[in-house]
Amino acid sequence: MPLVNTKEMFEKAYKEGYAIGAFNVNNMEIVQGITEAAGELNSPVILQVSAGARKYANPKYLKHLVEAAIENYPNIPIALHLDHGDSFEICKSCIDDGFSSVMIDGSKLDFEENIKVTKMVCDYAHDVKARGRYITVEGELGKLAGIEDAVNVKDEDAQFTNPDEVEEFVKRTGVDSLAIAIGTSHGAYKFKPGQKPRLRLDILEEVSRRLPGFPIVLHGASSVPQEFVKIINENGGAMPNAIGIPEDQLREAAKRAVCKINIDSDLRVALTAAIRKHFNDHPDHFDPRQYLTDARANIKELVAHKIKDVLGSENKA
Ligand code: G3H
Ligand code: 13P
Ligand code: ZN
Repeated sequence: MPLVNTKEMFEKAYKEGYAIGAFNVNNMEIVQGITEAAGELNSPVILQVSAGARKYANPKYLKHLVEAAIENYPNIPIALHLDHGDSFEICKSCIDDGFSSVMIDGSKLDFEENIKVTKMVCDYAHDVKARGRYITVEGELGKLAGIEDAVNVKDEDAQFTNPDEVEEFVKRTGVDSLAIAIGTSHGAYKFKPGQKPRLRLDILEEVSRRLPGFPIVLHGASSVPQEFVKIINENGGAMPNAIGIPEDQLREAAKRAVCKINIDSDLRVALTAAIRKHFNDHPDHFDPRQYLTDARANIKELVAHKIKDVLGSENKA
């Protein structure tokens, strides 16, 4: 199956009460680990590329890695998505490079400016006559705390999405999905020790009441598995108090209007745990294929767990 956009994926996910995992990809082992799990579990998947990933890996390499995954797993729908595009230009460049979906993140702009740039991207992406295909567009309203691409939004600057704004935003921009802020945040340190991690599912409910049938996206949705944090800390790492979103709350969101759940930090801790442990267990190893085999296996195991136990997307291809 060729690269797909997210339209049909989200329609089915909304109707059947599950979500699609959107995993950040930065290298070959990450692409392989994710798609091996999705392929074996017959699950649709979104592979997303941040501006940082483009800079690190060169977008052409990432695009070809994803194409290789599509050849290997023709049974599952795979979307290639730009994560946190911060300008019309970067979205246009990804669309022109063949991405099937983009995010324009205008959440740091004021409401009118956000609408303006988001509409510009939608007008370009949805022009089937000019592009020959429909590229789906994700917009964002509300501000998540945490670190993404060197932009650090402090906790006090974070803002929940205001449900009063969502209908106007969707109507005036034409976006295909909307990322909202309900208490998730980017990175591996989402809550302070002792703080009760809680998502504002009431805001999600109110947003979906205003936008019936419309797909909602959750960023910053890693759960920061404690078994990996423990392995990192026991093998020379230092990630004290790394805390994520409880998976039962993500499962709840996936049963409701949330159709896309973004996961990056969990891949990072899974990969780092494997490599740290490998070096501790085998101080003589210096062949990257040895430790990257463990890293890829951890990624695959993590993604399989997410698909089965959190997203609910197994056998939904
Ligand atoms: O939301 C941000 C993602 O975790 C991407 O992070 O920009 O460091 O690649 P990155
Ligand atoms: P995490 O840092 O929680 O993995 O969030 C990833 C994300 O939102 C990518 O856009
Ligand atoms: Zn994000």
